[in-house]
Amino acid sequence: MPTLKFAVLPGDYIGPEVMSEALRVLDHVAKKENLELSYQQADVGGAGIDHHGKALPDSTLALCREADAILFGSVGGPKWEKLPPKEQPERAALLPLRKAFNLFANIRPGLLYPDLTDASPLKSARIPDGIDIVCIRELTGGIYFGQPKTTVTLDNGEEQAIDTMVYKTSEIERIAEVAAVTARARGKKVCSVDKANVLETSVLWRRVVTAYFAKNHPDIALTHMYVDNAAMQLARDPNQFDVLFTENMFGDILSDEMAVICGSLGMLSSASLGTGKNSLGLPFGLFEPAGGTAPDIAGKGVANPCAQILSAAMMLRYSFGLAAVADRIEAAVRAAVATDGVRTGDIAFGRPAVGTRAMSDAIIARL
Ligand code: IPM
Ligand code: MG
Repeated sequence: MPTLKFAVLPGDYIGPEVMSEALRVLDHVAKKENLELSYQQADVGGAGIDHHGKALPDSTLALCREADAILFGSVGGPKWEKLPPKEQPERAALLPLRKAFNLFANIRPGLLYPDLTDASPLKSARIPDGIDIVCIRELTGGIYFGQPKTTVTLDNGEEQAIDTMVYKTSEIERIAEVAAVTARARGKKVCSVDKANVLETSVLWRRVVTAYFAKNHPDIALTHMYVDNAAMQLARDPNQFDVLFTENMFGDILSDEMAVICGSLGMLSSASLGTGKNSLGLPFGLFEPAGGTAPDIAGKGVANPCAQILSAAMMLRYSFGLAAVADRIEAAVRAAVATDGVRTGDIAFGRPAVGTRAMSDAIIARL
């Protein structure tokens, strides 16, 4: 019986609530598909700070190193906002985890079911068939990690802060490959987003991406767009894109824009894949919902578990090679939410809203 060994890091606020629903779905699927689940939970983020004195405890990191994938919840919230920026859950847990496992490729599907177009701030007439795009974001380079990164006091007494944007050819090529492979399984269209009219890193990015696709993926339609224009085009006509592909900070910003035009954050999953292979020879990855910890609704049993459940499906797809099982989970979510209209409050729009548990029950019933 194939064993799926993964670390479960629920995190803070709604993190643990939606995580337990994703685990129920996985348990159900495992029984049906004859898979053995082997997972252990560990503290991360604020929970790490509260119980171990740091956002990414050594024991949590050790557990992740033993695993073939990480199923991540969400971290951060008001309780830890007064800590120095470098110690806060987001910066002290998520960024070091990405770095520790070289999780250079962030894949965020921007999917809005046609029946859910109400959830989007865009007019339904603009997106009659919903939205179906993917954002591929470089995740371990650029201005997030470049050195120097510091604040100094100048001779005249004023402060000066420095962040450094750095990219090298190999970093650009490996993420270009992920974009190409993603596009190949979809509409074979990649739009690479940069700021090549201003930034050196973007000039290199555009040159390397162009050459890489010409040499390795000549059949994929590659276009380039400046990031300011891409932000505008995404709001104007999101489906002009198939795969949006960009560097770290641009991807951070554009993926949030993509998330909001796709309606509820409660529906969006993501995968961060590394250079490393797991014990199955597949990409080691971290899988997390895009929506954050939602402190305002934590503890009320109303959070939408779909994004966490869909993140678990991505884990099966990428780190365990179980695409068919992932398809089934995704279809069950779609059937519950879109076809049968079982909705949590964030996507209810006047329908009676169900709670977190009832939502996952509805998904399990359709598996
Ligand atoms: C994201 C988040 C993180 C990022 C934060 C929490 C550090 O916004 O995953 O998009 O900026 O990458
Ligand atoms: Mg972000």
